[in-house]
Amino acid sequence: MPVTVNTFFEKKKRREKIAVLTAYDALVAAMVHAAGADAILVGDSAGMVFGGHDTTLPVTMDEMLYHTRSVVRGARGAFVIADMPFLSYQCGHDEAVHNAGTFLKEAGAHAVKIEGGHDPALVARLVATGIPVMGHLGLTPQSVHALGGFRAQAKTTTAAAALVEQARALADAGCFSIVLECVPSAVAESVTEAIACPTIGIGAGAGCDGQVSVINDLLGLSTGYLPKHAKRYAHFYDDGLIALRQYIADVRSLAFPGPENEVDTTQQRAQKTKSASVDPSTP
Ligand code: KIV
Repeated sequence: MPVTVNTFFEKKKRREKIAVLTAYDALVAAMVHAAGADAILVGDSAGMVFGGHDTTLPVTMDEMLYHTRSVVRGARGAFVIADMPFLSYQCGHDEAVHNAGTFLKEAGAHAVKIEGGHDPALVARLVATGIPVMGHLGLTPQSVHALGGFRAQAKTTTAAAALVEQARALADAGCFSIVLECVPSAVAESVTEAIACPTIGIGAGAGCDGQVSVINDLLGLSTGYLPKHAKRYAHFYDDGLIALRQYIADVRSLAFPGPENEVDTTQQRAQKTKSASVDPSTP
């Protein structure tokens, strides 16, 4: 059965955890879908893990459309959520509807994600237009400078209460799920109990209705820093490095390419050897 927005609510009701992963390209999207994830988030984290930026702020609509199209092509039948990049939804509702709709109309996404709890009216407008919306509260990376860095949120009683209220407003406006990023587990649990739509946590503890992880963190396809909330299940970068060093050594030692890697057929090779042996210029 294909996943729809209804699946999110049904899973919450049945207390079945929802597993979401990011992907940015067709091959990894195919892998995530084959593994059985409930949904794929084409996160604007692409700007950092794929594009090498320090923040998600430089990510453009064109880049996100490219990544979303690639993911949709690679994972046919998957439920794909496109992350709306910075300034694609903050400059007026008409522009936001147009940009969000473009992800569905031109890239084949099934939903969009927007950060922040400041504009539930925008969520209501998008949902009324037929565009499912995933909310995103807590550490919202597009506000990294306003937040004073990538730091945990809702750590005081006042901030926690404000977060619960924002989540309620987003859920009432029609979000089919809300990402809670880097907030204390107890706060995430309060939000999860307070709202009808599922919460999808990242650094928000096990009490959320589901979890989302950045695929590169999980596969070990990254260098250096691993966020505390992430868990590495594989070592793609390290394994890749071993393979690449072996390739370079093989090229230098003539171990690669071998005869089995040549495109000549055996017959062509025999012919070449024969011609060379009757070449009159050969002494
Ligand atoms: O961009 C992203 O990958 C995200 C997730 C971390 C939730 O927003």
